[in-house]
Amino acid sequence: MTTAQPIHLAEQSSSAEPIPVIIDCDTGVDDALALLFAVRHPGLDLRAVTCVAGNTDVDQVVRNTLTVLDRAGAPDLPVARGAERPLIEPARPASHVHGRDGMGDLGLPAPTTRTAVDVDAVTLLRREILGSPRPVTLIPTAPLTNIALLLRTHPEVTRNIERIVFMGGAVATGNATPVAEFNVWHDPEAAAVLLTAGVPITMYGLDVFQRVVVPAADVQRLRTSTEPGASLAGELLAHRDPAASGDPTPTGGLGDAGAVCAVADPPGLTTSLLPVEVSLTPGPTRGQTVVDRRRRHGESEIHQGTREQALVDVGLDVDVNRYVKLYLQTIETR
Ligand code: BDR
Ligand code: CA
Repeated sequence: MTTAQPIHLAEQSSSAEPIPVIIDCDTGVDDALALLFAVRHPGLDLRAVTCVAGNTDVDQVVRNTLTVLDRAGAPDLPVARGAERPLIEPARPASHVHGRDGMGDLGLPAPTTRTAVDVDAVTLLRREILGSPRPVTLIPTAPLTNIALLLRTHPEVTRNIERIVFMGGAVATGNATPVAEFNVWHDPEAAAVLLTAGVPITMYGLDVFQRVVVPAADVQRLRTSTEPGASLAGELLAHRDPAASGDPTPTGGLGDAGAVCAVADPPGLTTSLLPVEVSLTPGPTRGQTVVDRRRRHGESEIHQGTREQALVDVGLDVDVNRYVKLYLQTIETR
């Protein structure tokens, strides 16, 4: 059995240089918040963004991603289109949460000069990971289809991956189903591939994801900002209104951006190294992340023996004020 001990992701980088990161996303209101933060945080070197079907279809995800990078004032960085559906099941978008366009139907303009690169997401991921002078931290904030395809097609990439910090899963309650979180539920087989990647993995699941909420006064200040990135953050945070959308995350939720905060500021997230398994069976548990928090083996192991299970650093607690402050400072400092 494993001992629950807080880990600090900061240990992943001993140098003061920015951490090379790649975000794989389904932009997505809160993916957009994550991108804005990653572009503006001085401790992160965002090297590429890859897109996958999830909150909306993959072409709309690409468009949204390029628009957000425009508004963030991001440098020219490669963006690639990835999988248009999960490995096995059809795509099932979350338009009731993210709007028809995936961006809260805010009426954002099409990207101006940016376009996607002419290679697919898996090819771009391989190129950027192996080409990075220092090991890359991968931050998937979406269904894990692109990541599973990458790991199966080019397993050699793991030699230059420092850690994968993914938004997905839940220890307690799900959102797509009573027990399954959307990103894992959308492509459970892909999530199972991720968990057995053989690299250090941090699960930033719903248990912490739903807790980091920006107070209404701060959201309002952002909305009225004259700076394009800050005002977009304000509009996106204001969109997440449970009364209007049915989304259980209250207005102001950082959502996926919290996972990027965990890379930039590891001490804000407390994790325990625990066995995690994805339920792949059809039925009510499909897509559930089964996290073993028991302190000793039970009858199952006693009578049937142990099975090999992935050990994952599971986010169990988060310093909410710390991440809210970090987010606001990062977005508003230009
Ligand atoms: C996850 O699902 C999506 O709706 C969000 O962007 C987030 O990545 C939460 O379950
Ligand atoms: Ca997402």
